[in-house]
Amino acid sequence: MRNGFVLSLTALTAAILAFAAVEKPTKPSEEYKNLMRSNASLVDLTAGSGNALGRDTNIEARVQAEAGSKTLRELFSDKDYAGLAAGSDKLKANYEKILAFWTDKKGDDGTALAQAGINAATDMHAAVLAKNDKGIAVAQSAIEKTCRDCHTHHRVIVLTDSSFQIRLSSFEAAN
Ligand code: HEC
Repeated sequence: MRNGFVLSLTALTAAILAFAAVEKPTKPSEEYKNLMRSNASLVDLTAGSGNALGRDTNIEARVQAEAGSKTLRELFSDKDYAGLAAGSDKLKANYEKILAFWTDKKGDDGTALAQAGINAATDMHAAVLAKNDKGIAVAQSAIEKTCRDCHTHHRVIVLTDSSFQIRLSSFEAAN
């Protein structure tokens, strides 16, 4: 009797997981896409390697930073602390909007990743003021991790036109 109950619970869980796995992705608004493009002008997820290797196949290289704009990594190697302070503020503002989006959609891990991004951008700003280069580098890695983790779990590529969409459900649910 008890086993039967456990079995049917397992079946129910499996059904819910299967449903989560086939969630229909959501199209991003222009505003959301522009936020992401602004992120990409500050954080180059190809770490500058996009031009040399696999340029055409690297999805992170598809969005180009605006001409003349510098990424946080470039500002860091130029030791441009004023530029880094402004850049980390801009990134923090982007992450606050990303947080608002995921909070509204009740996407728990998207919310947590956006909050981690806010924290990392805040850490970067503090490290910049202290001219603490190690702290800046640590914050840069923490920022990039939030981008990659979110894309792995929440960014869906539409194969028919290579556009991106959003997978809202938490990734714990699909594992
Ligand atoms: C909380 C989740 C999340 C975080 C954090 C995040 N992204 Fe995204 N990103 C997405 C989703 C979902 C899409 C797909 C929808 C879209 O294209 O806007 C996307 C799309 C993109 C795109 C393609 C935009 C387009 O033209 O459609 C770029 C570029 C991008 N992200 C860069 C970044 C960078 C750089 C960071 C870190 C600084 C970052 N993202 C952080 C979820 C996230």
